[in-house]
Amino acid sequence: MDEVSLESLAREFSTPLYVYSARQIKNNFLEYMRAFEDMNVLICYALKANYNGHILKMISSMGGGADVVSGGELYMALRAGINPEKIVFAGVGKTRDEIKEAVNRGICFLNIESAQELEVIEEIASNSEKAARISFRINPDIDPQTHPSISTGLKENKFGIFPDEAMELYRRAAKMKNVEIKGVHVHVGSQITSSGPILEAAREACVFTDKLKSEGIEISYVDIGGGLGINYEGANPPSPAQLAEEIGRVFKGRKETLVLEPGRSIVGEAGVLLTEINYVKKVPGKNFVIVDAGFNDLVRPSMYGSYHRIIPVEKGGEKIVADVVGPVCESSDFLAESREVEGIKKGNILAVMEAGAYGFSMASNYNSRTRPAEVVIDDGRGTLIRRRETPEDLVDTEV
Ligand code: LLP
Repeated sequence: MDEVSLESLAREFSTPLYVYSARQIKNNFLEYMRAFEDMNVLICYALKANYNGHILKMISSMGGGADVVSGGELYMALRAGINPEKIVFAGVGKTRDEIKEAVNRGICFLNIESAQELEVIEEIASNSEKAARISFRINPDIDPQTHPSISTGLKENKFGIFPDEAMELYRRAAKMKNVEIKGVHVHVGSQITSSGPILEAAREACVFTDKLKSEGIEISYVDIGGGLGINYEGANPPSPAQLAEEIGRVFKGRKETLVLEPGRSIVGEAGVLLTEINYVKKVPGKNFVIVDAGFNDLVRPSMYGSYHRIIPVEKGGEKIVADVVGPVCESSDFLAESREVEGIKKGNILAVMEAGAYGFSMASNYNSRTRPAEVVIDDGRGTLIRRRETPEDLVDTEV
């Protein structure tokens, strides 16, 4: 990766190990910036994809904002130096403490997801020195044509507010003291591989914004969320440039700032998970490649049946069809099923590809497994940006 041997990084830092390319993360972010440079745009990187502080600082230094969904993410975005005025906060279950913190820090806006949340925000804002800046997340009932677990803009999903109710809530919010209406928000899903659903959502957001304007409610930001997919298995999603061209047509002549919340498309292809083959176990009719990374390290295959390419980083070993499984005590602990894999030999290192997004950020300590280390390759060398956890870390928070 970027002229650095992954094999030697695996030996130096041990496995399982996440490795990211700084160059690719920068390129991906700058590609968005360049693609949308003719428009008034705010790019709010979705921290949930990968929240390592080193990566967040890179995004911050390129002028990026943040899309956060918890007090923890807000803390990390601010800690990385991201300007509060470039932070947006989504999520259906924001707590009072999270709302207070967001209001006090003066973030760009909170994306409200229910009528009750508006009431809580009004009450908090009325006791605060700062106004609460808000927007409502509209549920436009659009099918993003992606995995059901990561589609969020259908009417059966828990997210957002239907347009009619949202219109009513905007009217109510417009009369509230200390509540400032800033934007309109939509986000219809993740790993979207054609521009159709994103454009449709953008159009809906614009139509809705115009209705608000006709009632005298001013809107400064139209936030169309994230969701642009990457290529895991032959998908050919539009590039940011293609998307920009199409969104440019939808936004032609508009004055609002366009907000984008990309996560996966910034970091996904820039990361791999390195794992060592502990054992090769052959039973009648089936082969198991038992690696040292489990679903606690990378849950996407077990959770969504997601496909991640798996390729050897060193020579030798055989080519077999196998289930690539981890050490966790559950049959759903796999990285690939019935897959033809190469370089299979006890002790060899495999790279699980496209693991930069929703990899470490979804890792857990299940089975009391310590979470992996993270390394970033920059300027031709690999640097540790998160040490591997130790068993002591597992009990650190016990009282
Ligand atoms: N904005 C909002 C409000 C979101 O809910 C999300 C993702 C994003 C932005 C970023 O979407 P992206 O550009 O990364 O697609 N764990 C799943 C993905 C869940 C996405 C949740 N929301 C996975 O591993 O595929």
